[in-house]
Amino acid sequence: MAMKLTRAVAGAAVLSLCVLLAGCDGSVLLDTTPSNSSSGVEKAAANNIGLRGFELIDAIKAKLGDAVSCADIVVLAGRDAAAILSRGRITYALKTGRRDGVVSSAAAADATLPQSTFEVSQLKGNFAKKNFTTEELVVLSGAHAVGVSHLSSFKDRLNAATATPIDPSYAAALARDVEALKGQQNTTDPTERFNIRDMDAGFRNASGFDATGVNTTAVGVLDNSFYHATLQNMVLLKSDWVLRTDGEASGSLSDFRDDAAKWEAEFAAAMVKLSNLPAEGTRFEIRKSCRSTN
Ligand code: HEM
Repeated sequence: MAMKLTRAVAGAAVLSLCVLLAGCDGSVLLDTTPSNSSSGVEKAAANNIGLRGFELIDAIKAKLGDAVSCADIVVLAGRDAAAILSRGRITYALKTGRRDGVVSSAAAADATLPQSTFEVSQLKGNFAKKNFTTEELVVLSGAHAVGVSHLSSFKDRLNAATATPIDPSYAAALARDVEALKGQQNTTDPTERFNIRDMDAGFRNASGFDATGVNTTAVGVLDNSFYHATLQNMVLLKSDWVLRTDGEASGSLSDFRDDAAKWEAEFAAAMVKLSNLPAEGTRFEIRKSCRSTN
């Protein structure tokens, strides 16, 4: 089950931001293109540090063959990830027929994709470019109830000089945990779980987390717990916290905290919209391998 959930998170992550770049064209899966080497493609972008699960996409493609595009596989994996991770509460139907692009650029990804250090105005502007509302930005950010983040994506929050408001007890518990993770993962840039719900009781108690309305046994589940954490200043990313600083966004944060069913329904609708973003290129194909153009 653990393996299945990890893979499901990966599927969701691959889907999430890649489509905001150039629509759903599978460009994030390419290892190289005719005009870009491996260091120049989208998956090498600094903003895409968190993407994983490409082997899962390869395995699905191997089963489905040449008739199904990689772009369709990405959005369908995202749909299934949402269903699995939400224990069947987030389901939606998608049409197929997407085609794969032949362009993939790290520079374009870094210039276009939202960053974890963005202010709320930048996040809103970024989503608006693809015709997504502030409410949809808040809805989709709820995906950060699951998965992990590298320390490099949230280290600004642990540094007094750069920190945006973060609960001090939570920050202290996080700093201790990150030090332990460096040893366990043998790296200076370990990955930490996004959701305080998924931390052990010792961590939650040390942080003073108020779990009223949160199912703390639903570890790894895609639910509305992100909003409980954000409204207590107990989230990793600045881009999650800054949603509190916008009048429109902050109203939606409390709406979704207080109404799980509303969030699930709106999340499903926003995922359909994300999955249907048209591809922006001029040349398309159905790739034989998701990692290279034909
Ligand atoms: C609002 C703008 C967003 C920003 C700035 C953002 C940023 C990030 C960052 C920095 C990470 C961690 C990367 C790392 O250090 O490993 C991450 C992970 C993740 N994001 Fe987002 N994200 C955004 C929107 C979304 C959306 C719209 C979705 C899906 C609907 C999403 C789903 C995920 C998931 C599932 C992970 C965890 C991946 C894993 O565990 O491997 N994110 N995001």
